[in-house]
Amino acid sequence: MGFSIAISGKGGTGKTTLSAMLVRLLIGKSPQAVLAVDADPNSCLGITLGVEPETTIANLRDDVLKQKIEPGQGIGKLEAFGYACQQSLTEANGFDLLTMGRPEGPSCYCAANNTLRAFLSQLSASYGYVLTDNEAGMEHLSRRTNTDINVLVIVAEPTKVGVVTAHRILELTKSLPMSVGRIGVVWSRSRKQVDLKLDGISVFGTVPYDEAVFELAVEGRSLFELSKDSAAMKAAEGILNRILDN
Ligand SMILES: Nc1ncnc2c1ncn2[C@@H]1O[C@H](COP(=O)(O)OP(=O)(O)O)[C@@H](O)[C@H]1O
Ligand SMILES: [Mg+2]
Repeated sequence: MGFSIAISGKGGTGKTTLSAMLVRLLIGKSPQAVLAVDADPNSCLGITLGVEPETTIANLRDDVLKQKIEPGQGIGKLEAFGYACQQSLTEANGFDLLTMGRPEGPSCYCAANNTLRAFLSQLSASYGYVLTDNEAGMEHLSRRTNTDINVLVIVAEPTKVGVVTAHRILELTKSLPMSVGRIGVVWSRSRKQVDLKLDGISVFGTVPYDEAVFELAVEGRSLFELSKDSAAMKAAEGILNRILDN
């Protein structure tokens, strides 16, 4: 099983930005590739990683529901769906991207969901690291039942609101159906060093507000273009060391 890192937090806190920087830093740390999973229905991890996904798991799931996926000879509808999921991986240099997308059909299509779960756990076995950029409510995580999370990163703004939200997310993790290893907060887009008190959660680090990150975002350019010496990349390096417990 690949070492699994899940990124969570409120919308707009910097989850996708941190995810992309961590994916970049994880490449080469294991002989196997890195799997980046965009689990936010408003998928934008691809933009920050400079790759364009052709389709999403949600689209494929809707296709199988609407019978648009024709099972081949001798294979069933679900098998065809599993195969299509595998084909939907976007391959890039040192990493693959899986985009979950936004399902439009009925939320409970249990057979397809089971196939998806089996696919996801099988998939994570062939990567050294699996990093998931989650949506605010972690709905995707709460539907997954069989892949454990090694480290959960809560991205929060360095304010009182951020502190309150981080604690709420910590509470939420107790109801998740899988085991969660270590949990830590990343203070994101900080304009100064802050010393905020958290109760029962450690801090992996602080990503400073970095003009260079903003400049790239304005033009929709990938974070692979960010200088390794930039304040944000340097901070992400320290954070990754804590995540991996080096
Ligand atoms: N460290 C940073 N410095 C400057 N801008 C940042 C930083 N982190 C994120 N941003 C910007 O803030 C906005 C929201 O970040 P994003 O990573 O998309 O948040 P989320 O995924 O949590 O919604 C984006 O425009 C992004 O470029
Ligand atoms: Mg995001």
